[in-house]
Amino acid sequence: MPTRPAASARQRVTVDTGASRYDILIGAGLLADASAWQGLPAAAQALVVTNTTVDPLHGAALRHALAPHYARVGTLALPDGEAHKDWPTLNLVFDRLLADACDRRTVLFALGGGVVGDMTGFAAASYMRGVPFVQVPTTLLAQVDSSVGGKTGINHPAGKNMIGAFYQPRRVVCDLDTLSTLPARELSAGLAEVIKYGPIADAAFLDWIEAHLDDLRARDPAALAHAVRRSCEIKAEVVGADEREGGLRAILNFGHTFGHAIEAGLGYGEWLHGEAVGCGMVMAAELSARLGLMPAAFVGRLARIVERAGLPVRGPRLGAARYLELMRVDKKAESGQIRFVVIEALGRAALRPADDATVARAIEAHCA
Ligand code: NAD
Ligand code: GLY
Repeated sequence: MPTRPAASARQRVTVDTGASRYDILIGAGLLADASAWQGLPAAAQALVVTNTTVDPLHGAALRHALAPHYARVGTLALPDGEAHKDWPTLNLVFDRLLADACDRRTVLFALGGGVVGDMTGFAAASYMRGVPFVQVPTTLLAQVDSSVGGKTGINHPAGKNMIGAFYQPRRVVCDLDTLSTLPARELSAGLAEVIKYGPIADAAFLDWIEAHLDDLRARDPAALAHAVRRSCEIKAEVVGADEREGGLRAILNFGHTFGHAIEAGLGYGEWLHGEAVGCGMVMAAELSARLGLMPAAFVGRLARIVERAGLPVRGPRLGAARYLELMRVDKKAESGQIRFVVIEALGRAALRPADDATVARAIEAHCA
C-alpha cells in the first residue's frame, strides 16, 4: 500500500503528449503560493473565466496571485450549471475577449469545475485560433479528471459534449483547499471518477480507496492529496499514450456509457454526472461478469465502494430498451454498434461490443 504524503507537500505530475508537455501542481494553499504562478506565458492581459458560485469563494485569491504577472486581470463570471454549457454562454467569453481587445497572447484561467474548465478550454482553443489557458479546478471531479488531458467543449441539444476540441492547458493548478467549500454531494460525484481509476488501471489504488473512503468523505487533506495525485498520474499516463482517443483513452470512460444513458434518460441535471458514472460503473462491472471476464464478487465489491462513496447504485427504471437506444448515440459507438469499457482483470480494462440481451440483463440487475 502506498504511503500517504504529508498534506502540505506540493506534488507535481507531468503530462506529456509529445506535442505538448505541462505540469499538474497539487497541494493545499496553491492559490496563495506565488511559485505556482511563475513561468506561465507572458501577456499584458489575463481573463479569469469562472461562474457566479465560485467567483465569490475563490476569485479574489486567484486575481491576487495573477496581479504581479499581468497588467490587467479581468473576470468573467458565467451563470452556473451544466445547462449553461452551451453556445450562448460560450459566446459571452468571446464577447468579453473582444470587448477588452484581448490579443492572441491573452491567457485564460478557468476557475471552477468541469463545466467552466471545458468551456474555457474550448474558448481558448477557438479565440484567434488559439490562446494559452490554465486550468484551476475547484471540484474534485475537475481535479482528478476534467482539467487534465485537453478535452474541451460544450453540449448540443442533441448530445452532451458533442461540440469541442482537443486543446491542452499550459498548467493545471489543483489547490486542495478549494475543496473545503464544495458541497458534499459534489464531493461524492468526484469520488466516482477517483474510484474508476482502480478497476481500469491500478488494483492497489482500488484497495487504497476502499481503505480510505471515510477519510476522503471527511476531506482528510492527506487522503485527498493522495487521491488527486494518483488519479492525475493515471490520467496523465493514459493521455500521454493516446491523446486523441484512438484507443486506450476510451478506458477512462468506464461506467460512462451506462452513465450517459442515465443522465440523458432522466434529463441532464437530475443526477450529477459523477452519480450517473457511479451507478454506470456497477452496470459495467455486471456486464464484465456476464461476459465471463470477472467474478461476480467483483460486482458486489465495486457496488459497496460506490455506495460508501455516497453514490447511487440502482439506476432509474427507464427500461432496458430505452437505455440501449440512448447508448447508441455515445461517442464510442461506431456505426450504431456500442462498445463498452469492460474490466478484464482488476487494473486492466478493454473496449468490447456486447449483444443487446446481455447488456439488458446487466442493466436490469441494477435498476431501482
Ligand atoms: P460543475 O462544473 O457543474 O461543478 C459542480 C458545482 O460545484 C457547480 O455548481 C459549481 O459552481 C460548484 N463548485 C465548483 N467548485 C466549487 C467550490 N470549490 N466550492 C463550492 N462550489 C463549487 O461540475 P463538475 O462535476 O466539476 O464537472 C462536470 C462537467 O465536467 C461536465 O460538463 C462533464 O461533461 C465535464 N467533464 C469533462 C471531462 C473532460 O475530460 N474534459 C471529464 C469529466 C467530466
Ligand atoms: N474523462 C475522459 C477523458 O478525459 O478521456
